[in-house]
Amino acid sequence: MKYGFFDEQNKEYVITNPATPSPWANYLGSPAYGAIISNNATGYSFVKSGANGRLIRYRFNSYSNDQPGRYIYIKDLDSKEYWSNSWAPTVKPLDKFDSKCIHGTAYTIISSKYNNILGEALYYVPLNAEYEVWRFKVKNNTTSTKKLAITGFVEFTNEPNYEQDQVNLQYSLFITSTKFYDNMIEETIRTGHDNPEKARFFGVAGAKVNAYCGNRETFIGNYRNYSNPVGVEEGLKNDLNYNLNSCGALESVIELKAGEEKTLVYILGQNKTSVAKDLLKKYEKTDVCEKELNELKNFWHSKLNNLQVYTPDERFNNMVNVWNSYNCFITFTWSRAASFQYCGLRNGFGYRDTVQDIQGIIHLAPEMALNQIRFMLSAQVTNGAGLPLVKYTHKPGYENTPDDPEYVKETGHPSYRADDALWLFPTIYKYISESGNLKFLDEEIYYANNQEKGTVYDHLKRAIDFSMNNLGNHGMPAGLHADWNDCLRLGKKGESTFVAFQLYYAFNIIREYAELKNDKEYIKYIDAEQDKLSKILDKCYDEDRFIRGYLENGTVIGAKKDPEANMWLNPQSWSVISGYAKGNIATKAMDSVDRELNTPYGAMLMYKPYNNHYFDGALMITYNNCVKENAGIFSQPQGWLILAEAKLGRGNQAFKYWSEACPATYNETAEKRMMEPYVYGQFVEGKDSPFAGRCHVHWLTGTASTVMVGTVEGILGIMPTTKGLVINPSIPSNWDKYSFVKNYRGKKLDVTVLNPNGKEHGVSKITINGKAIDGLLITDDMLKAENQITIEM
Ligand code: GLC
Repeated sequence: MKYGFFDEQNKEYVITNPATPSPWANYLGSPAYGAIISNNATGYSFVKSGANGRLIRYRFNSYSNDQPGRYIYIKDLDSKEYWSNSWAPTVKPLDKFDSKCIHGTAYTIISSKYNNILGEALYYVPLNAEYEVWRFKVKNNTTSTKKLAITGFVEFTNEPNYEQDQVNLQYSLFITSTKFYDNMIEETIRTGHDNPEKARFFGVAGAKVNAYCGNRETFIGNYRNYSNPVGVEEGLKNDLNYNLNSCGALESVIELKAGEEKTLVYILGQNKTSVAKDLLKKYEKTDVCEKELNELKNFWHSKLNNLQVYTPDERFNNMVNVWNSYNCFITFTWSRAASFQYCGLRNGFGYRDTVQDIQGIIHLAPEMALNQIRFMLSAQVTNGAGLPLVKYTHKPGYENTPDDPEYVKETGHPSYRADDALWLFPTIYKYISESGNLKFLDEEIYYANNQEKGTVYDHLKRAIDFSMNNLGNHGMPAGLHADWNDCLRLGKKGESTFVAFQLYYAFNIIREYAELKNDKEYIKYIDAEQDKLSKILDKCYDEDRFIRGYLENGTVIGAKKDPEANMWLNPQSWSVISGYAKGNIATKAMDSVDRELNTPYGAMLMYKPYNNHYFDGALMITYNNCVKENAGIFSQPQGWLILAEAKLGRGNQAFKYWSEACPATYNETAEKRMMEPYVYGQFVEGKDSPFAGRCHVHWLTGTASTVMVGTVEGILGIMPTTKGLVINPSIPSNWDKYSFVKNYRGKKLDVTVLNPNGKEHGVSKITINGKAIDGLLITDDMLKAENQITIEM
């Protein structure tokens, strides 16, 4: 079933049926002031921390009763009938109630039409602001004058820590009180927060408040709920709270002649009373909102416009031009901070997740990537490893590490992971190549744990050292506490082929940099070690697949003969991405993936799931079959799969995997996938699940960036290198022509790709501004400010 459509022109997704299979969300603001909002206006807001700065309530894990939200109730004072502008919570019959939700880049617009009264709520957080705005327009489309009561409602938390708020009731029910003045409800929290700087306010500009309520219990009424609050049914009676639960409800009575429209602006935030008052004054001029909306659009669209593609596939255009890119920016800024599944409990950035997330935006905003790369390098320990969790309070040079008991106690991370720092290689390589900023290699950056600085080149060498100092019994990188797979504990002397391939790849990159630096001794060292590693990896090939690794006792994980988990996805794709596997070995391994792991919804992480033949470190045994790391279709690796097939030049295969993983593919069968058709999820249930194809954990997943890289660098073949730009597509053979525009190192590229002979790969001719070039490399000196490039396949 279809619930909405993509509007590529406006960079929006439009939900026309509000009864979506799960709340379909959007992100407003930033983690400084963040708001998550669904198509029915539900969700929560927070200041600085999703877990500890929660401003308004949202009840987790209650999809079928997804509540509460940023509600605006409309009541016809003559007929006494009332409804909410968002379809829920009043859920009027859909044959009488028109609902539309537009999710755009950092704004959401929810509109309603009921009894010929039109409502439109625009929700957003102004650029760099720390409060939120709901602009509500209401229009009388009937032929007579209407008297309406408009009631804006929020349910504040009593305690900014969401767990305390929900469960420590002997305490949290006795700390708040509300006041009303100047068109707003102010909530103050006493214990520890009786601080006027931290008052929460909910006010309205553009209309007078006729009655208010600051007490949730009296607003809702006993044995009622958000769908039939007594406060709306009978009108508000100016109640405030002292103890129990607070809320902000503001009722404005307005009269609209036939055809007349009025605008109210609700403001929600946490600040000093004087600031709140000033804000309400500011929004008395309701046209401020239009200006701020345009600022938001310009900000985001100007980033997205740094690459726009025009291919024969609409899904592809929508994902690359809007949604996959926007998803990448959201993971980049929000990390795993807050969603409808992540409650905000992580008190920092995961090393690998964050370094991976950066990759998704490099081609669109290299300057934003640079700052975050610096930050992550400053979270590298002097031994070369990444800090498994980089605290929000991170202070380069002064951090303790998994070697210190305090770090372990504070973060819950008992040791280093095998892969963390190795993600720096693809990320830094992409950044330097996209920007051309080779000088970055010489920039000095602190290490995390002592006040020692090293150049970026030095940081990278230490990342290699960490792997080389932690080798297992066969000479491959040890699996340690985990590699990319959080559920795989291979141990101090056990080994991971995935990490071995990552190291192989890292050797290639550091060699390129060592050559630039004329670091001859190091090149010798790298060559010798890579050669050794290569011979060890030769032994990891088991007929038609690479094994997943070894346990400390020598047991092979992922051997072809194993009764369970005998085929793993990541070692196959990474054998190719790393540059190690070539020719027959590579294609055989990738064909095995297609044969044994692929499903209509993407390839499973391994197969069969563990049930009876697992080992102690196979933590995925806790998950149901074909779910998460136990043979689920984990989404991140789909990006690597796409990239690997593209690197082999198999455009049809790359595109097939892209299409299986693509959320938009399921727009018409969204009831089955359940999640937003415009964002990636952490995983999809695999073939042995009765719900194969159902997707989980929306928005904040490394998938956004891995698929982005697989798409841009793989399928479109746009590969900046240190020497210049290579464009070498691996496309579906039925794309006879497509084009894209890209900003690259301050220049504009307008590229047309011609594929009259239906090829999947292989460029025969490149013309830049009318002049054919030799080979594939486009160097800076070939480019003007604006360039017409034709690529013939
Ligand atoms: C989750 C984690 C990520 C990990 C993956 C596989 O997505 O955030 O760090 O690599 O699971 O276990």
